[in-house]
Amino acid sequence: MEKRRPLIAGNWKMFKTCSEAMDTAASLIKLTKDVAETDIMIAPAFTALWPVAEIVKESNVSLGAQNLFYEKEGAYTGEISSSMLVSAGCRYVIIGHSERRQFFGETDETVNKKIKAALKDNLAPVLCIGETEEERKSKNTFIVLDKQVKKGLESFFSDELLSSCLVVAYEPVWAIGTGKTATKNQVQEVHLYIRSMLEKEFGSALAESTRILYGGSVKPNNILELMEMPDVDGALVGGASLDAETFSQIVHY
Ligand code: PGA
Repeated sequence: MEKRRPLIAGNWKMFKTCSEAMDTAASLIKLTKDVAETDIMIAPAFTALWPVAEIVKESNVSLGAQNLFYEKEGAYTGEISSSMLVSAGCRYVIIGHSERRQFFGETDETVNKKIKAALKDNLAPVLCIGETEEERKSKNTFIVLDKQVKKGLESFFSDELLSSCLVVAYEPVWAIGTGKTATKNQVQEVHLYIRSMLEKEFGSALAESTRILYGGSVKPNNILELMEMPDVDGALVGGASLDAETFSQIVHY
């Protein structure tokens, strides 16, 4: 079995103007040019995608978007399609982030449609899943994750998911932006569960090759212990990805 390549992804959320994003990207590519064994992705706001794509194009940093709309094109004011993201230089797209679910009405059904759209244009989807604090307290974590994975990936064939380079990001909602990180054992337990669910639904080839990232208050001082867990293949980093120096330290875990 081939070893999964780690992926460290930065989600810049609604931060940074174009020039700020360009400056951070330029610093980041300098700081990470020695990195050969880890994939690096940054997801700036839509407005900064193209200028940042121009900066990272000769580097080992890939570009991702934070969202897309599932229709191909049309009268959908304010929305962005997968082919627009590809044309702006994206290779990845984050889908179903908990902030999208919480503030913008994203559901497992829209997530499913968005993944379908991403696959059509060869964008690698980063499917975000995670339980809230109440769901964990009431011991419903696995039920919630089960539903998010099954519904999010409903009606896909393993082959298409395999060739899409699907990424799953486990982000417990209670750990996002709160400074509370799940313990490495909690994370490993959930990642193993997700991998076994993928195996049950889609077979071992997909389960073994899918990178499962952890997200939620990842910092330079906790990345190493997380990456030492056998089923943690990388991280989706919010706050700590905004500063090139800090994010580079995470990339160099
Ligand atoms: P955080 O965000 O690292 O700031 O907790 C993670 C995310 O929302 O992807």
